This record gives sequence, C-alpha cells and structure tokens, in this order.
Amino acid sequence: MLLQQRVAVITGGGRGIGRGVSLRFAHEGARLALVDLEQAHLDETAAVLAREAPGAEHILLQGDVSSSADVQRVFGETIARFGRLDVLVNNAGIGNPPVPIVDMPEEAWDRTIAVNLKSVFLCSKAAARQFIAQGGGGRVVSVASQAGKTGYPMLTPYCASKAGIVLFTQAFAKEVAAHQVTVNCVCPGTIDTPLLRGGIETASGGALKFEDVAGTILPSIPLGRVGSPADVAKVITFLASDEADYMTGQAINITGGQEMH
Ligand SMILES: NC(=O)c1ccc[n+]([C@@H]2O[C@H](COP(=O)([O-])OP(=O)(O)OC[C@H]3O[C@@H](n4cnc5c(N)ncnc54)[C@H](O)[C@@H]3O)[C@@H](O)[C@H]2O)c1
Repeated sequence: MLLQQRVAVITGGGRGIGRGVSLRFAHEGARLALVDLEQAHLDETAAVLAREAPGAEHILLQGDVSSSADVQRVFGETIARFGRLDVLVNNAGIGNPPVPIVDMPEEAWDRTIAVNLKSVFLCSKAAARQFIAQGGGGRVVSVASQAGKTGYPMLTPYCASKAGIVLFTQAFAKEVAAHQVTVNCVCPGTIDTPLLRGGIETASGGALKFEDVAGTILPSIPLGRVGSPADVAKVITFLASDEADYMTGQAINITGGQEMH
C-alpha cells in the first residue's frame, strides 16, 4: 500500500474527483480528513467508504475552504484526531457562470477566485506549518485544470484561478523544498463528475445533458474517452506517495492527451 497510515486532508472530498481520491487513498491505507461545504456530500462519501473500503479510518469536516476561520478549525480538528498530517489534497473547486467577461458579475469573479485559489493558499499555509513543526516532510497536491494552461471563453475566472494554482505550486514548492515538502498539481481535462455535468446543463440553459454533447467532446480527446475520478485519483496517489519524492513544482496533465503542454 502506497499511503499506509498517512494522514491526508482532502478538500471537496464529498463528491466527484474528491470522492474518487478519498476511495483510492483509503485503499492505499491512508487515514482521511474529508472536508466539504456540503454535509450531505460528505455523508454520501462516508457511505461509499463504508461499502467499498470498510474499516477505512476517516473524519468528516463540514467547512468552507475559502474561509480562514473554517480552514483553521478543520486543520485543528484533524491534528487533534490524528496527531499529525502527511498529505494535503487541495481539490475543492467551483465553476463560474458561463458569461463573457463584459457581463461577469463581480461577485462571481470574487467567489471563483476565493474558492479555487485563495483556498489553496489558506490550506497550504495550514498544512505547511504543521509539516514544518512535526518535521519529516509532507506532500501538497492541488487540483488545477487544463483550463489553467489554455484559456476557454466564458470561463475566465475559472481559468485565471487554475493558472494561479499552477504558479502558486511552483513558487511554494521552492519555498518549502528545504523541509522536504513537495508541492505539485494535476491538470485534469474532461472528467465525468457532477461539476462537469452541471456545467453543461447550465451553459445550455438546461437544454442539453452531458450525453447530448459527448459526441462533440470525444473527437478532441486523443484517447477517445472522457476521464473518471479514478483516473485522476491514480495520479494524485502517486504524487502523494514516496514514489514521487524527487518531483516538486510540477503541473501534470490528466486529459487523455487533450492538453500536451
Ligand atoms: N470535472 C472536471 O472535468 C474537472 C476538470 C478539471 C479540473 N477539475 C477540478 O477538480 C476539482 C473537483 O471537481 P469535481 O468535478 O469533482 O467537482 P464536484 O462539484 O463534483 O465536487 C466538488 C466538491 O467540492 C465541494 N466544494 C465546493 N465549494 C467548496 C468550498 N467552498 N469549501 C469546501 N468544499 C467545497 C462541493 O460541495 C463538492 O462536494 C475542482 O477543483 C475542479 O475545478 C474538474
């Protein structure tokens, strides 16, 4: 097992990619602190863990990762329960309303940047303080996006937040390298989650479902299929493990070949 007894905070662990990472980490022997804004999402992930990884040690922590008070509380509860921290997965994120920048409400810009980028700062700060205090290194893996490498119209705040994660990763990796803390991010492409399906429905005013547009998406993916949360979880597991101990500051595409730089 790649993560035996490692203590991992996974933000957005209640659904989609975060649930996939939680399940894979549980199978690799990790002890989990799952953080999510929605208690109902956390409860669903707990039910999946009970069914598919029975006995996996985990706590459920409701909180908003863009709030410094909530972040301090959830990290405090994690350390109180497990006594240490080994891995942070910054996964929680949201889309933005699909409108051009000339019509983008200021609140939508602020919320997207706060949930997708400020949260990475707040959680990484809390994790790094714990890693440095306890000694022995640590792992930060953040979920950026292929939209952090290539711009997509109507997704401007989302793209800006994800590009921010890529450069945050590089700068922070250099800061904490002396403590043997590695900092990497992944850039998923088209991954089948409620966020993707909801985004397609919202963008089409409810007229289209994922299945309606899959035929137009697939030709742009060289490997010919949409990704799954498990596809992303594999790479995050590798980056969180000792197998990746000579990698830091990287932004790894998981896109079926859709993004190559
Ligand atoms: N699905 C894709 O195609 C895709 C592609 C590239 C990147 N991503 C990124 O992957 C990450 C996970 O996306 P997903 O598709 O699994 O989304 P999702 O909506 O299915 O799940 C996200 C989870 O994060 C939680 N969350 C949202 N805001 C939060 C907050 N403020 N505090 C705490 N929790 C919060 C939600 O309640 C939800 O449970 C996001 O950062 C997203 O931008 C997704």
